[in-house]
Amino acid sequence: MADPRPALKVAVLLSGRGSNFRALAEACGAPDYPAEIVLAISNRGDAAGLGIAADFAIPATVIDHTGFDDRAAFEAALTEAIEAAGAELVCLAGFMRLLTSEFTDRWRDRLINIHPSLLPAFRGLDTHARALEAGVRFAGCTVHFVRPDMDDGPIIVQAAVPIRADDTPEDLAARVLAQEHRCYPLAVRWIAEGRVRVSGATVRVEAAEAPDSALINPR
Ligand code: GAR
Repeated sequence: MADPRPALKVAVLLSGRGSNFRALAEACGAPDYPAEIVLAISNRGDAAGLGIAADFAIPATVIDHTGFDDRAAFEAALTEAIEAAGAELVCLAGFMRLLTSEFTDRWRDRLINIHPSLLPAFRGLDTHARALEAGVRFAGCTVHFVRPDMDDGPIIVQAAVPIRADDTPEDLAARVLAQEHRCYPLAVRWIAEGRVRVSGATVRVEAAEAPDSALINPR
């Protein structure tokens, strides 16, 4: 029987290339996907992601942070646009502005982010170069609910990829990005299906099981 639940309305916030936005837009194009993107917001007028919105006929708007006196005014404009679009979930997809606790509290448990590391390792920028420098054997990505601290919050899903001896940061970024494009649509699907429960610092995904194989690197 078809799911009677209406599609979850999603707003995507981005600043640049928009490949995760594209992955979400493609997922939303599948007839059985339980979410739809009602608005894309970029804080930069030159973001390539705006072209993706046009490709998918998704309403898009630029809210340029430089046009506001302070963060509060910028974030109030974000909230106004998100609410006007009727969005129920906000996805940060390469949105490179820090958000205040007023905003993260306003959207608590309805605001998610994707980050290119296995959090809580390597918060912040240059994650791939830093992972290579640290000599870790695995890298990956994380989709998590947003809390006031940067790249912090209850984790919904992670994907791990091996690091190879001759990797450059670009090699690693490409390997991780391919997994980002799988993980973000999965997390949004689970939320839209009502299967995601936040309990303190942790998340439970109903009817989702951990894999039973281990990865060892190097073999
Ligand atoms: C992605 O790798 C995303 O994980 C990262 O920015 C990139 C945006 O790419 N986000 C962060 O670093 C957030 N802390 P995209 O514009 O092609 O989706």
